[in-house]
Amino acid sequence: MGSGSKVGNSNLDYSFKVLLIGDSGVGKSSLLLSFISNSIHDLSPTIGVDFKIKLLTIGGKRLKLTIWDTAGQERFGTVISSYYRVYDVTRRESFKNLEDLWAKEVELYSTNPECIKVLVGNKVDKDSERVVTREEGMALAQKHRCLFVECSAKTRENVQQCFDDLSLKMLEVPSLREKGSVVVKKQKQKQAYERMHRGRGCCLE
Ligand code: GTP
Repeated sequence: MGSGSKVGNSNLDYSFKVLLIGDSGVGKSSLLLSFISNSIHDLSPTIGVDFKIKLLTIGGKRLKLTIWDTAGQERFGTVISSYYRVYDVTRRESFKNLEDLWAKEVELYSTNPECIKVLVGNKVDKDSERVVTREEGMALAQKHRCLFVECSAKTRENVQQCFDDLSLKMLEVPSLREKGSVVVKKQKQKQAYERMHRGRGCCLE
């Protein structure tokens, strides 16, 4: 299970849910860890990571990103604000398979048609092994009208920027802002209720 489930919401403006999808081994967990931990030291042991929470301030707004690195459909009854489609620039198959993912997109992720999509080419540090060019990535992103970034979870090149750009984009979409703030309000109400409940328990003892 991912970390951060107890992160408080007291000063938050928006809460967004972000999903990473792509073939096994393209580096989804590594990207997530690289972004969350601000370091590359814990890149290797990625098994078992479901989600992580990142708090950040963008454009004067305080955001909570809950980032999932699994596409387990059953987990996403709630609205997804955005998702990353990740491929490995050294594995053409992982790039080709994204087309299939797009075909299934409506079926799997139709909860919000306005969600922000980002195409991510990972492992650019392995330049000598690269088989998918930057131009090909850009063309695919254009075809499906999504943002595009090439990065390396290993060196952290473009990793921070990748999530910052996405956050700015999400803040530009009124429906996402609205849903994001409703989530924060609900979470605050729940916390207040729990505090009250705990307080009562205390008095009765
Ligand atoms: P699944 O959990 O099976 O879906 O895989 P994943 O997409 O989460 O990939 P994961 O993060 O586990 O990375 C797979 C392998 O690629 C690991 O050995 C990572 O260390 C390596 N890796 C991930 N990102 C990079 C990168 O940017 N550069 C290099 N050189 N290796 C990377």
